[in-house]
Amino acid sequence: MAPTTSASGTALDRDQVVRWRAAWAEVMGGFVPGLATLEEIVCRAAETVRGRMPSRVLDLGGGPGVLAERMANRWPGAAVTVMDIDPVLLALTRGAVPDLVRSLDGDLSSPAWATRAGEGYDVVTAVMTLHYLAPPQARAFYDDARRVLSPGGLLVVADLMPDDGVASVMNALDPADGEAAAELAWAQWWSDVAEAASLRPLFAERAAMFQARPPAGFTASASWHVTAARAAGFAEAGLLWRCGRHAALAAVA
Ligand SMILES: C[S@@+](CC[C@H](N)C(=O)[O-])C[C@H]1O[C@@H](n2cnc3c(N)ncnc32)[C@H](O)[C@@H]1O
Repeated sequence: MAPTTSASGTALDRDQVVRWRAAWAEVMGGFVPGLATLEEIVCRAAETVRGRMPSRVLDLGGGPGVLAERMANRWPGAAVTVMDIDPVLLALTRGAVPDLVRSLDGDLSSPAWATRAGEGYDVVTAVMTLHYLAPPQARAFYDDARRVLSPGGLLVVADLMPDDGVASVMNALDPADGEAAAELAWAQWWSDVAEAASLRPLFAERAAMFQARPPAGFTASASWHVTAARAAGFAEAGLLWRCGRHAALAAVA
């Protein structure tokens, strides 16, 4: 298949991009048990909260745009945007689905991302993204997310959210063993993609950017997230889904 040129000017082999994104989806499935169920629940919640198909959707920290592509296919006619800080992952989104999904670079650790993304979204998702932020930034994230949603719009934040009580039972059903394998698969994925000569400039950009950042490691309970969403002025906030130590919060603006 012919090479595709992403908006960053990077020429990528389209078949290779398809393989990398499929492998990414597998790696993420290793991190998040029940990921397919989570995605289905998120989509149903998005359709229910509005009583119609969403027309503007934003996936934050959306990586190579796998979920964004699924949402764009599920809701034809919806304007779906991925925002991410990582130039390599954005190049994969642009290389794979340039006409289906809009890609924007943005840093969720500063409120400027919300201005850049614009307002009026029906649905905003952040899957396995918030743990990259420091706690004050994660709290501020809820203010900014509410700002970009239209009234009645839905925010879904899915991440590691170990919780009191329920989690102690659920953790026994979902031990962290799978996480070590997922970490290995993650490292292998990045090392495979880094071999592509055409991506070298973006990898250099990425290395410089992440060098100055503390490693991702923020984890808070689901109730912490619910409290942060309510404090940010969301009208409703609660648990949408849980599988082991992973959970998703839904909040209605
Ligand atoms: C574990 S990946 C999850 C990607 C995607 N949501 C998924 O489920 O496939 C975390 C994502 O968050 C992005 N990210 C990390 N820190 C970020 C920040 N400060 N602003 C925007 N995106 C960020 C990473 O580049 C990466 O794409």
